[in-house]
Amino acid sequence: MRRFWRDLSLCISIFVVSFVTLIYVFGSPKAARQQPPTLFETSRPPSAPEKKVYNEVTLTLRHIYHHGSTGFPELFRRLDLNETRLNSLQLSSDMPFTHIVRGVPSLTVKPTDRNMVKEYRRRHKYDQISTKIDYHKELAIVPDMKNQETVIALAMMTYNAYIPTGSEDWYDLGHKYGWNDEFGWQEDGIRGHVFTDPKNETIVIAIKGTSMIGGGPTVPKDKKNDNRLFSCCCARVGPSWTPVCGCYRGKATLDQCDQRCLEESVDESDLYYDVAVKLYERIQDTYPDATIWLTGHSLGGGVSGLIGWTYGVPAVGFEAPGEALAARRLHLPQPPALPYEDMPIWHVGHTADPIFMGACNAIWSSCWVGGYALETKCHAGKVCLYDSVKEFGWKPDVRTHRARDVIEKVLKVWSGVPVCRPEVDCVDCGLWEFVDN
Ligand SMILES: *[C@@H]1O[C@H](CO)[C@@H](O)[C@H](O)[C@H]1NC(C)=O
Ligand SMILES: *[C@@H]1O[C@H](CO)[C@@H](O)[C@H](O)[C@H]1NC(C)=O
Repeated sequence: MRRFWRDLSLCISIFVVSFVTLIYVFGSPKAARQQPPTLFETSRPPSAPEKKVYNEVTLTLRHIYHHGSTGFPELFRRLDLNETRLNSLQLSSDMPFTHIVRGVPSLTVKPTDRNMVKEYRRRHKYDQISTKIDYHKELAIVPDMKNQETVIALAMMTYNAYIPTGSEDWYDLGHKYGWNDEFGWQEDGIRGHVFTDPKNETIVIAIKGTSMIGGGPTVPKDKKNDNRLFSCCCARVGPSWTPVCGCYRGKATLDQCDQRCLEESVDESDLYYDVAVKLYERIQDTYPDATIWLTGHSLGGGVSGLIGWTYGVPAVGFEAPGEALAARRLHLPQPPALPYEDMPIWHVGHTADPIFMGACNAIWSSCWVGGYALETKCHAGKVCLYDSVKEFGWKPDVRTHRARDVIEKVLKVWSGVPVCRPEVDCVDCGLWEFVDN
């Protein structure tokens, strides 16, 4: 009997100690609720539901940045949109320019000095010296990827890529050239559509590559750009293809590719990644205190993921080809104590889209016919996978890749949002051997 009481009192004291420790570590539930993060002000009254801390903001398209790439690397300009201008643009667009998104607090890791990232990449590439980068933890507001309206709103921001804006009223940020005299510059490079809230506290940059898969005009140089970032070996899909770089080292029995050569090929300053870096940095300098999110469809989504990885900023891609391989080839640094699936990057896609699934590369596939070799399938961060093959009975078809169809026929129709998970055991380009000469 005495033993029973002794054990019981031991149990009770262990329980009390654990409980006190728990409260110490996590704070009392009440205390947690009383301290919503103040990174941006909620548009809801303070007495709004308390069960979960979140913020809702209304974002409106305010600027369009346009940076040229291969064809027009000096092109850099910005269009500012006031209400009058927005209303006139709205006439030629079938998507709204104002959206409501919801954010949730999440711990993120960011490089303290963004210039260190460039230094790290340079050193890793040429000297193989391991440079350290200072990172700091930050309680940031990230998109609420459980909230269907937020996912749809971000997808809609990626749409409207090519609304005709006219060539007047652009403010020149680069060198002034006679842009109007040359053909092709309006389709060249990357556009960033910048959505801001009325206080400039939350900003979404929708990144759009100008090449359009699945409809619209295509410029050959954009293809080259895409094929470098998202193919295994310079888009050498078969002997009949003209590769976009010269890294193939064929052997009779094995396809070999020169790793160093590939890394050079993705690191030219006219490629989408570098162009998007310039765009992002310019916008961050304009709004130094804002919470910035990135989003993009297709190649824009892949590039958003790469920029998100580089700077630790939240990024949401839609139907993007896998960008994890490009991230490694670009020597993007890996934040310490943060596995890459925990970075604030999400990839939304459905199973019938061959570009998202990394399956648009077979001979006579639509990509093959169009001259694209989008072979990578591994995505950084988490993947929110809509199984349209199983749920809707769709067959894999590149036409299901289009932003509009994804919004109307997948995101809006689905009940809720699938749970976003990291891709496990994903391997890109398994049939290739990458050699270092
Ligand atoms: C809006 O911008 C246009 C040019 O894009 C300008 O002509 C107009 O005066 C501006 N309107 C207001 C109210 O600022
Ligand atoms: C937001 O930024 C724009 C452009 O930089 C500026 O014109 C506007 O006054 C800013 N609004 C506020 C509330 O700071």
